[in-house]
Amino acid sequence: MSPPPAPASEPAGERQAYVPPTIVAHQSGLANKFGRGPTRRSLTRIDGVPVTDLVERFGTPLFVFGERRLRRRFRDVQRTFNVRWPKVQFAWSYKTNHLDAVCRIFHDEGAWAEVVSEVEYAMARRLGVPGEQIVFNGPYKPTESLRTAVAEGAHIHIDHHDELWDLERIACEHGRPVPVAIRVNMDTGTYPRWGRFGFDLDGGEALDVVRRIAASPHLELGGLHTHIGTYMLAPEAYGIAATKLVELAQRARELTGRLPRYLDLGGGFASHATLHAQYSPASDTVPPIEAYADAITTPLLAAGFRADEAPTLILETGRALVDDAGSLIARVVASKRLPGGARAIVIDAGLNVLFTSLWYRHEVLPALDRGGLFEDTTVFGPLCMNIDVVRPSVLLPPLEVGDPLVIRPVGAYNVTQSLQFIRLRPAMVLIGDGGQIDLIRRAEELDDLKGPERLPDRLAPGHAR
Ligand SMILES: Cc1ncc(COP(=O)(O)O)c(C=O)c1O
Repeated sequence: MSPPPAPASEPAGERQAYVPPTIVAHQSGLANKFGRGPTRRSLTRIDGVPVTDLVERFGTPLFVFGERRLRRRFRDVQRTFNVRWPKVQFAWSYKTNHLDAVCRIFHDEGAWAEVVSEVEYAMARRLGVPGEQIVFNGPYKPTESLRTAVAEGAHIHIDHHDELWDLERIACEHGRPVPVAIRVNMDTGTYPRWGRFGFDLDGGEALDVVRRIAASPHLELGGLHTHIGTYMLAPEAYGIAATKLVELAQRARELTGRLPRYLDLGGGFASHATLHAQYSPASDTVPPIEAYADAITTPLLAAGFRADEAPTLILETGRALVDDAGSLIARVVASKRLPGGARAIVIDAGLNVLFTSLWYRHEVLPALDRGGLFEDTTVFGPLCMNIDVVRPSVLLPPLEVGDPLVIRPVGAYNVTQSLQFIRLRPAMVLIGDGGQIDLIRRAEELDDLKGPERLPDRLAPGHAR
């Protein structure tokens, strides 16, 4: 018997693969407080470029950054502060994303560098950032790196007493007083309180350190710094922090005769990623930048500083500038049913490159619009590790092996925290302002991982024992 003819809609020779039918409860049409089903069904382009073109050219997984978004966001945030305070300086937080292309875009827009180790310091210098435009934070700054930072005029934020002693010795060798700043921690009414960095302000330790610096012939107080937390949803906390920093600055003026030249309020503004623990999506809960800016600048304005002494406001905003500009394209490598009948897919990117899935409920969007019923799906990464879950549950339509997905926002903390655990790290591209696509980090090869290792001859394969 000859096989039945293909349906008229199917061109001869392109028969679709047979997918066995499954019966599932259809829940995706049920209304919730945000309306019906998923708000967005697919994402076929990133910044105007078809996802399928990117996949064809660079493969997956693939990180994609949008230059236009980076620049536009930076300018918007900067303007929001500039209209509220006359002297504002952003310092780009390298730990949030240290890709050269991303850092250069922010420096090009006028940001300094904010670094927390000698390695990050060297990254900034390699990119041409002068020492005077580097803010040097962190709880461990090796003595040699402090010496370099002093010589190059970087803004050193002292974290603890041992560093203070170290710096005083270096400043003594230096031959003239070295301006330094101190990091302080404080209660801002939020939990958890970040008490492990810097000096305690509420208990008086910070003021003692100000006294100590005022008494030193080798040091002078150039600034005050605090970083009260990350993904902070309460702008009021910044109002408290700014108020307390202004008070400390005024006490410092009483002791030294002059105000510190800058107040640094750190980073921590929330991005538009939703936390697992959040009931409502970030689009409904994340305060606008204006709310943070109002909270910070109101106490500064209320302090009534003279125009010639008004301190510069430094901000080390990280995730709120870069998160939304980053997407990750991954592909489905398997589709399966879990023992309870729930649907699951395995994709080619997991916790190794998407560390933030531990706390973010990332959007996972098919890049092809195939239609079909949406069903609760667990998205697993490719690692042979039980914890490798990108989304425990997300509504997705039927997907086939090879289908691309876009995961976002992923621009903050993933590049810098990615691991070569089980798999190598993927390529990264930048979609330029004019639509050009540049490879800004190639996919890793085995030598990138194994290159630094040395195998003793006696263990070499084939060595006679
Ligand atoms: C000292 C300091 N500044 C800035 C940042 C950037 O923070 P965020 O990405 O939350 O804006 C961090 C990150 O934790 C930090 O530790």
